[in-house]
Amino acid sequence: MTGDDQRSTAEALLRWYVDAGVDEAITDHPVDHFKAASPPPTQAPRNTTTTAPGIDPPASPDPMRQASPPRVAPVAPDAQVTQPVHAARETARAAGTLAELDAAVRAFEGCPLKVTATNTVFADGVPGAAVMIVGEAPGADEDRQGKPFVGVSGQLLDRMLESVGLSRQDSVYITNILPWRPPGNRQPTQAEIAVCMPFVERHIELAAPQVLVLAGGTSAKTLLSRKEGIMRLRGRWFDWSPPGGGKTIPALATYHPAFLLRSPGQKSNSWKDLLSLKRHLQEGPKAE
Ligand code: URA
Repeated sequence: MTGDDQRSTAEALLRWYVDAGVDEAITDHPVDHFKAASPPPTQAPRNTTTTAPGIDPPASPDPMRQASPPRVAPVAPDAQVTQPVHAARETARAAGTLAELDAAVRAFEGCPLKVTATNTVFADGVPGAAVMIVGEAPGADEDRQGKPFVGVSGQLLDRMLESVGLSRQDSVYITNILPWRPPGNRQPTQAEIAVCMPFVERHIELAAPQVLVLAGGTSAKTLLSRKEGIMRLRGRWFDWSPPGGGKTIPALATYHPAFLLRSPGQKSNSWKDLLSLKRHLQEGPKAE
Protein backbone atom coordinates (compact mmCIF):
# COMPACT_ATOMS: atom_id res chain seq x y z
CA MET A 1 0.00 0.00 0.00
CA THR A 2 1.37 3.43 -0.88
CA GLY A 3 1.53 6.30 1.58
CA ASP A 4 -1.41 7.96 -0.23
CA ASP A 5 -3.48 4.75 0.01
CA GLN A 6 -2.75 4.49 3.73
CA ARG A 7 -3.74 8.09 4.24
CA SER A 8 -7.05 7.77 2.39
CA THR A 9 -7.84 4.51 4.24
CA ALA A 10 -7.15 6.23 7.57
CA GLU A 11 -9.29 9.22 6.53
CA ALA A 12 -12.16 6.94 5.48
CA LEU A 13 -11.97 5.13 8.82
CA LEU A 14 -11.98 8.40 10.75
CA ARG A 15 -14.96 9.65 8.71
CA TRP A 16 -16.79 6.41 9.49
CA TYR A 17 -16.13 6.86 13.21
CA VAL A 18 -17.35 10.47 13.18
CA ASP A 19 -20.49 9.49 11.21
CA ALA A 20 -21.12 6.82 13.84
CA GLY A 21 -20.88 9.42 16.62
CA VAL A 22 -17.41 8.44 17.81
CA ASP A 23 -15.93 11.90 18.16
CA GLU A 24 -13.91 11.61 21.35
CA ALA A 25 -10.59 9.84 21.99
CA ILE A 26 -10.94 8.39 25.47
CA THR A 27 -7.67 6.55 25.81
CA ASP A 28 -4.43 6.38 23.83
CA HIS A 29 -4.93 2.71 23.02
CA PRO A 30 -8.02 0.89 21.75
CA VAL A 31 -9.87 -1.35 24.23
CA ASP A 32 -11.77 -4.41 23.07
CA HIS A 33 -14.97 -3.90 25.08
CA PHE A 34 -16.55 -6.96 23.50
CA LYS A 35 -13.81 -9.04 25.07
CA ALA A 36 -14.01 -7.23 28.42
CA ALA A 37 -17.79 -7.61 28.53
CA SER A 38 -18.02 -11.34 27.79
CA PRO A 39 -19.24 -13.04 30.95
CA PRO A 40 -18.27 -16.65 31.53
CA PRO A 41 -20.80 -18.70 29.56
CA THR A 42 -22.63 -20.21 32.56
CA GLN A 43 -22.48 -17.26 34.92
CA ALA A 44 -25.40 -14.82 35.21
CA PRO A 45 -24.44 -11.12 35.21
CA ARG A 46 -24.16 -9.70 38.73
CA ASN A 47 -25.53 -6.26 38.10
CA THR A 48 -28.76 -6.41 40.04
CA THR A 49 -27.90 -3.37 42.12
CA THR A 50 -26.93 -1.16 39.21
CA THR A 51 -30.39 -0.26 38.02
CA ALA A 52 -31.55 3.18 38.98
CA PRO A 53 -35.21 3.60 39.86
CA GLY A 54 -37.38 3.68 36.81
CA ILE A 55 -34.70 2.64 34.39
CA ASP A 56 -35.46 -0.21 32.06
CA PRO A 57 -33.05 -3.09 31.91
CA PRO A 58 -30.35 -2.75 29.25
CA ALA A 59 -32.34 -1.64 26.29
CA SER A 60 -32.30 -2.54 22.67
CA PRO A 61 -30.66 0.37 20.86
CA ASP A 62 -32.80 3.51 20.82
CA PRO A 63 -33.72 4.18 17.17
CA MET A 64 -33.20 7.91 17.83
CA ARG A 65 -29.57 7.26 18.62
CA GLN A 66 -28.61 4.74 16.01
CA ALA A 67 -25.39 6.60 15.34
CA SER A 68 -24.07 6.02 18.85
CA PRO A 69 -21.01 3.81 19.25
CA PRO A 70 -21.71 0.30 20.54
CA ARG A 71 -22.85 0.32 24.17
CA VAL A 72 -21.13 -2.65 25.66
CA ALA A 73 -20.69 -1.80 29.31
CA PRO A 74 -18.56 -4.33 31.13
CA VAL A 75 -20.52 -6.12 33.83
CA ALA A 76 -19.03 -4.42 36.86
CA PRO A 77 -18.56 -6.12 40.18
CA ASP A 78 -21.24 -4.82 42.57
CA ALA A 79 -18.82 -2.84 44.72
CA GLN A 80 -17.55 -0.91 41.72
CA VAL A 81 -21.05 0.43 41.18
CA THR A 82 -22.52 0.66 44.67
CA GLN A 83 -19.55 2.44 46.25
CA PRO A 84 -19.76 5.52 43.99
CA VAL A 85 -23.55 5.58 44.40
CA HIS A 86 -23.14 5.46 48.16
CA ALA A 87 -20.48 8.18 48.02
CA ALA A 88 -22.71 10.31 45.79
CA ARG A 89 -25.62 9.90 48.21
CA GLU A 90 -23.50 10.93 51.20
CA THR A 91 -21.97 13.86 49.33
CA ALA A 92 -25.32 15.09 48.03
CA ARG A 93 -26.98 14.80 51.44
CA ALA A 94 -24.20 16.87 53.02
CA ALA A 95 -24.88 19.81 50.69
CA GLY A 96 -27.15 22.32 52.38
CA THR A 97 -27.36 24.90 49.59
CA LEU A 98 -27.30 24.91 45.81
CA ALA A 99 -23.84 26.48 45.87
CA GLU A 100 -22.56 23.68 48.11
CA LEU A 101 -24.13 21.07 45.87
CA ASP A 102 -22.58 22.70 42.79
CA ALA A 103 -19.16 22.57 44.44
CA ALA A 104 -19.72 18.97 45.59
CA VAL A 105 -20.68 17.80 42.10
CA ARG A 106 -17.61 19.50 40.62
CA ALA A 107 -15.36 17.81 43.18
CA PHE A 108 -16.96 14.36 42.84
CA GLU A 109 -14.72 11.75 41.21
CA GLY A 110 -17.06 8.75 41.28
CA CYS A 111 -18.49 9.03 37.75
CA PRO A 112 -16.23 8.03 34.85
CA LEU A 113 -18.01 10.48 32.55
CA LYS A 114 -16.18 13.28 34.32
CA VAL A 115 -12.90 12.01 32.87
CA THR A 116 -13.98 12.57 29.28
CA ALA A 117 -16.05 15.71 29.85
CA THR A 118 -14.55 19.16 29.39
CA ASN A 119 -16.81 20.82 31.95
CA THR A 120 -19.22 19.96 34.73
CA VAL A 121 -22.63 21.25 33.66
CA PHE A 122 -24.55 22.00 36.84
CA ALA A 123 -27.41 24.38 36.04
CA ASP A 124 -28.53 27.58 34.39
CA GLY A 125 -31.34 30.04 34.98
CA VAL A 126 -32.85 31.32 38.17
CA PRO A 127 -32.18 29.23 41.29
CA GLY A 128 -35.40 28.87 43.23
CA ALA A 129 -37.59 29.66 40.19
CA ALA A 130 -41.14 28.29 40.08
CA VAL A 131 -40.28 26.06 37.10
CA MET A 132 -37.36 23.63 37.08
CA ILE A 133 -36.61 21.77 33.84
CA VAL A 134 -34.62 18.55 33.96
CA GLY A 135 -33.13 17.29 30.69
CA GLU A 136 -30.93 14.30 30.02
CA ALA A 137 -27.25 15.17 29.66
CA PRO A 138 -25.01 17.86 28.22
CA GLY A 139 -24.17 17.67 24.53
CA ALA A 140 -21.06 19.02 22.83
CA ASP A 141 -22.05 22.71 23.12
CA GLU A 142 -23.08 22.37 26.75
CA ASP A 143 -19.86 20.51 27.54
CA ARG A 144 -17.81 23.30 25.95
CA GLN A 145 -19.69 26.14 27.67
CA GLY A 146 -20.45 24.44 30.99
CA LYS A 147 -24.17 25.34 30.81
CA PRO A 148 -27.21 23.18 30.08
CA PHE A 149 -29.28 23.58 26.92
CA VAL A 150 -27.17 26.12 25.04
CA GLY A 151 -26.99 24.23 21.71
CA VAL A 152 -29.69 24.05 19.04
CA SER A 153 -32.10 22.10 21.22
CA GLY A 154 -31.55 24.67 23.97
CA GLN A 155 -32.37 27.46 21.54
CA LEU A 156 -35.62 25.70 20.67
CA LEU A 157 -36.32 25.25 24.38
CA ASP A 158 -35.82 29.00 24.93
CA ARG A 159 -38.30 29.82 22.13
CA MET A 160 -40.82 27.35 23.54
CA LEU A 161 -40.55 28.90 27.00
CA GLU A 162 -40.83 32.38 25.57
CA SER A 163 -44.09 31.42 23.84
CA VAL A 164 -45.71 31.05 27.27
CA GLY A 165 -43.98 34.00 28.88
CA LEU A 166 -41.21 32.06 30.63
CA SER A 167 -37.44 32.38 30.33
CA ARG A 168 -34.27 31.19 31.97
CA GLN A 169 -33.42 34.84 32.64
CA ASP A 170 -36.51 35.38 34.78
CA SER A 171 -38.55 32.38 35.69
CA VAL A 172 -36.95 29.02 34.90
CA TYR A 173 -34.15 26.94 36.38
CA ILE A 174 -32.55 24.23 34.20
CA THR A 175 -30.45 21.17 34.87
CA ASN A 176 -29.89 17.63 33.58
CA ILE A 177 -29.94 14.12 35.01
CA LEU A 178 -26.21 13.90 34.26
CA PRO A 179 -23.81 16.80 34.81
CA TRP A 180 -21.23 15.33 32.41
CA ARG A 181 -21.47 14.68 28.69
CA PRO A 182 -21.45 11.02 27.66
CA PRO A 183 -18.74 10.72 24.96
CA GLY A 184 -20.14 11.10 21.46
CA ASN A 185 -23.56 11.88 23.00
CA ARG A 186 -24.17 8.19 23.53
CA GLN A 187 -27.03 7.15 25.76
CA PRO A 188 -25.99 7.12 29.44
CA THR A 189 -25.64 3.72 31.04
CA GLN A 190 -27.72 2.58 34.01
CA ALA A 191 -24.66 2.79 36.25
CA GLU A 192 -23.88 6.36 35.16
CA ILE A 193 -27.46 7.43 35.83
CA ALA A 194 -27.51 5.64 39.19
CA VAL A 195 -24.41 7.46 40.39
CA CYS A 196 -25.74 10.87 39.34
CA MET A 197 -29.25 10.37 40.75
CA PRO A 198 -28.48 11.42 44.34
CA PHE A 199 -27.18 14.73 42.99
CA VAL A 200 -30.17 15.50 40.81
CA GLU A 201 -32.58 14.50 43.57
CA ARG A 202 -30.83 16.77 46.06
CA HIS A 203 -30.70 19.46 43.38
CA ILE A 204 -34.50 19.38 43.10
CA GLU A 205 -34.94 19.39 46.88
CA LEU A 206 -32.69 22.42 47.29
CA ALA A 207 -34.12 24.33 44.32
CA ALA A 208 -37.64 23.53 45.59
CA PRO A 209 -39.52 24.57 42.45
CA GLN A 210 -43.30 24.81 42.28
CA VAL A 211 -43.30 22.46 39.30
CA LEU A 212 -40.87 20.16 37.53
CA VAL A 213 -40.76 19.75 33.76
CA LEU A 214 -39.13 16.47 32.78
CA ALA A 215 -37.84 16.83 29.23
CA GLY A 216 -37.46 13.52 27.44
CA GLY A 217 -37.65 9.84 28.27
CA THR A 218 -34.48 9.55 30.33
CA SER A 219 -35.50 12.39 32.64
CA ALA A 220 -39.15 11.33 32.97
CA LYS A 221 -38.54 7.62 33.43
CA THR A 222 -35.67 8.11 35.83
CA LEU A 223 -37.25 10.69 38.11
CA LEU A 224 -40.72 9.17 38.06
CA SER A 225 -39.54 5.56 38.35
CA ARG A 226 -41.73 4.64 35.38
CA LYS A 227 -41.20 1.95 32.82
CA GLU A 228 -43.33 3.48 30.05
CA GLY A 229 -41.62 5.44 27.33
CA ILE A 230 -41.99 9.19 26.86
CA MET A 231 -44.70 8.69 24.22
CA ARG A 232 -46.96 7.36 26.96
CA LEU A 233 -45.77 9.69 29.71
CA ARG A 234 -45.86 13.02 27.86
CA GLY A 235 -48.58 15.47 28.69
CA ARG A 236 -49.25 13.85 32.05
CA TRP A 237 -48.74 15.26 35.51
CA PHE A 238 -47.14 13.15 38.23
CA ASP A 239 -46.00 13.77 41.78
CA TRP A 240 -42.25 13.66 42.24
CA SER A 241 -41.36 12.51 45.74
CA PRO A 242 -38.05 13.33 47.41
CA PRO A 243 -36.18 10.08 48.19
CA GLY A 244 -36.22 10.66 51.96
CA GLY A 245 -39.89 11.67 52.04
CA GLY A 246 -41.18 15.22 52.31
CA LYS A 247 -43.27 17.50 50.15
CA THR A 248 -44.02 16.17 46.67
CA ILE A 249 -43.64 18.37 43.61
CA PRO A 250 -45.98 18.22 40.58
CA ALA A 251 -43.99 17.03 37.57
CA LEU A 252 -45.00 17.30 33.91
CA ALA A 253 -43.45 14.84 31.44
CA THR A 254 -42.86 16.29 27.99
CA TYR A 255 -40.85 15.68 24.84
CA HIS A 256 -37.19 16.62 24.68
CA PRO A 257 -36.55 19.57 22.34
CA ALA A 258 -33.96 17.50 20.45
CA PHE A 259 -36.74 15.05 19.62
CA LEU A 260 -38.89 17.94 18.36
CA LEU A 261 -36.07 19.02 16.06
CA ARG A 262 -36.14 15.55 14.52
CA SER A 263 -39.94 15.23 14.63
CA PRO A 264 -41.43 18.71 14.14
CA GLY A 265 -44.88 17.16 13.72
CA GLN A 266 -44.88 16.55 17.47
CA LYS A 267 -44.58 20.25 18.30
CA SER A 268 -48.36 20.58 18.63
CA ASN A 269 -48.27 18.10 21.53
CA SER A 270 -45.48 20.05 23.17
CA TRP A 271 -47.52 23.21 22.75
CA LYS A 272 -50.37 21.51 24.65
CA ASP A 273 -47.88 20.67 27.40
CA LEU A 274 -46.70 24.26 27.57
CA LEU A 275 -50.28 25.46 27.91
CA SER A 276 -50.88 22.90 30.63
CA LEU A 277 -47.76 24.14 32.42
CA LYS A 278 -48.91 27.73 32.15
CA ARG A 279 -52.40 26.85 33.44
CA HIS A 280 -50.87 24.96 36.34
CA LEU A 281 -48.72 27.96 37.28
CA GLN A 282 -51.70 30.31 37.12
CA GLU A 283 -54.35 28.14 38.70
CA GLY A 284 -52.48 25.45 40.62
CA PRO A 285 -53.05 21.70 40.46
CA LYS A 286 -56.83 22.20 40.17
CA ALA A 287 -56.21 23.21 36.56
CA GLU A 288 -55.30 19.65 35.59
N1 URA B 1 -29.89 17.87 25.86
C1 URA B 1 -30.11 17.75 27.20
O1 URA B 1 -30.84 16.89 27.65
N2 URA B 1 -29.50 18.62 28.00
C2 URA B 1 -28.71 19.58 27.56
O2 URA B 1 -28.20 20.33 28.38
C3 URA B 1 -28.51 19.69 26.16
C4 URA B 1 -29.10 18.82 25.35
